[in-house]
Amino acid sequence: MRTDPYRLTVNGRPVEVIDGHAGESLLFVLRERLGLPGSKNACEEGECGSCSVLLDGDLVCSCLVLAAAAADRDVATVEGLSDAGGEVGPLAYVQRAFVEAGAVQCGFCTPGLLMAVDALLCEEPDPDDLTVREAISGNLCRCTGYGRILEAVDRAAAMRREACS
Ligand code: FES
Ligand code: FES
Repeated sequence: MRTDPYRLTVNGRPVEVIDGHAGESLLFVLRERLGLPGSKNACEEGECGSCSVLLDGDLVCSCLVLAAAAADRDVATVEGLSDAGGEVGPLAYVQRAFVEAGAVQCGFCTPGLLMAVDALLCEEPDPDDLTVREAISGNLCRCTGYGRILEAVDRAAAMRREACS
């Protein structure tokens, strides 16, 4: 069943979903209707965190959010992390940290981790190890063993502190 058109604000830009169907997830709408494939679909059950986005500033699994329930709300996706706002452009500090630490292998978990780490560091610029582990505990990585991801978070935190000092 089609829904009435509804609006979202995605990465600061208003967008209208005009051909949505009831029951579609926010992840589906971002990827398939709005052309934003950065958020990944690995489990579609809220288990892996690869689809993580911010909804009104809160980290959520977009596969578990009904798209229509996000109407008139602010959605931030990995495409909006860099200043280029979805276009190809300079990497955000957290993206640079992941690259420099070698924390990206297949890359499937990376968008969700980037969103989780960026959200963490916005709230806690100098997190301790336990806080970092808790913050990324919902993001599964099948490749790296997490060592390099933890190193990337340290690098990102240091970059962010330096930029803010
Ligand atoms: S695809 Fe959403 S949590 Fe795995
Ligand atoms: S880099 Fe492959 S799942 Fe994390």
